[in-house]
Amino acid sequence: MKKWLPNWRIVSLLSVMALFLAGCGKPYLSTLQPVGEVADMQKSLILLSSAIMILVVVVVSIIFVYVVVKFRQRKGEKDIIPKQVEGSHKLEITWTVIPILLLLILAVPTVSYTFQLADVAKMDEEDSDALVVNVTAHLYWWEFEYPGYGVVTSQDLYVPTDERIYFNLEASQVKHSFWIPSAGGKMDTNTDNTNRFWLSFDSERVGQGEAESIFHGKCAELCGPSHALMDFKVKPVARADFDQWIENMQATEHTAETELAQAGEEIFNQSCITCHAIGADAQSDAGVAPNLTNFGDRERIAGILEHTPEELARWLKDPEDVKPANLMTNTYGELNAQEVDALVEYLMSLKVDEE
Ligand code: CUA
Repeated sequence: MKKWLPNWRIVSLLSVMALFLAGCGKPYLSTLQPVGEVADMQKSLILLSSAIMILVVVVVSIIFVYVVVKFRQRKGEKDIIPKQVEGSHKLEITWTVIPILLLLILAVPTVSYTFQLADVAKMDEEDSDALVVNVTAHLYWWEFEYPGYGVVTSQDLYVPTDERIYFNLEASQVKHSFWIPSAGGKMDTNTDNTNRFWLSFDSERVGQGEAESIFHGKCAELCGPSHALMDFKVKPVARADFDQWIENMQATEHTAETELAQAGEEIFNQSCITCHAIGADAQSDAGVAPNLTNFGDRERIAGILEHTPEELARWLKDPEDVKPANLMTNTYGELNAQEVDALVEYLMSLKVDEE
């Protein structure tokens, strides 16, 4: 009886792991709940390769058990040596041909999809109307530039549904990887070359169920202490709404309304502006820090905190505590409570989306 104990431990460990992994199925970041063409292709490859692997494991296990039982040493057969088989053309051909066939079944769609997913020819066409987004991964945030529109933003990626969005992927300091699990990826962002690919969002599947219409983006390459905190959000909207957003971003001429916000603007223009930028195409200085034009519309503070004045204050007071090794840490000394309040009021008022 005693020797069963360790097995129960393994069983309970496995059930805890299964529970734990069940948490990976969130509709806004699951590769198994695709929202576009790329994610569909990638999911079908996941399912096909899993099916082939399961088939192999099951068939091999059945043969293994059958052989172990059938050819076991029986009572009184201790000195019997079974017939020795050396070389069998039939068997050798069988176990060579079957894996080749399985690999072919896997290879044909894989190679075909690889070419389809890498098809960015439209980016190079003259007078191309393809929507291009330049993505730059920084420590630890994401910059999104729409070169066709002169708009730069960060952290929240706006994209139109039902069309291909082409990405130029780069990184400023170290290698990261751009991944939107529901839509596809991932692809490395490198410091010394530009990677390109495309994604799409199907309007009929955006806004369904729990996912609503905001998807999570992740950094998928270990890049430093805040790698796991390097999140962004994706907002797929109808083309007309996207055009409206672009227009709002371009038109932005922000004026601080309340007295507190004006005080915040003053502080911002004295210190924060050295790294950050506000204004549609105002590229922050060499991409040191995010463009904050539509900061008030963001889903999260610093990509991870709830978008509330309290959390923003927490971030401003101690960025290092929220996101270790980020570049905002210790850049301007400590802010006093009044300064934080004013900055919070000002930053939260930076909006372009109509409510
Ligand atoms: Cu950036 Cu991991």
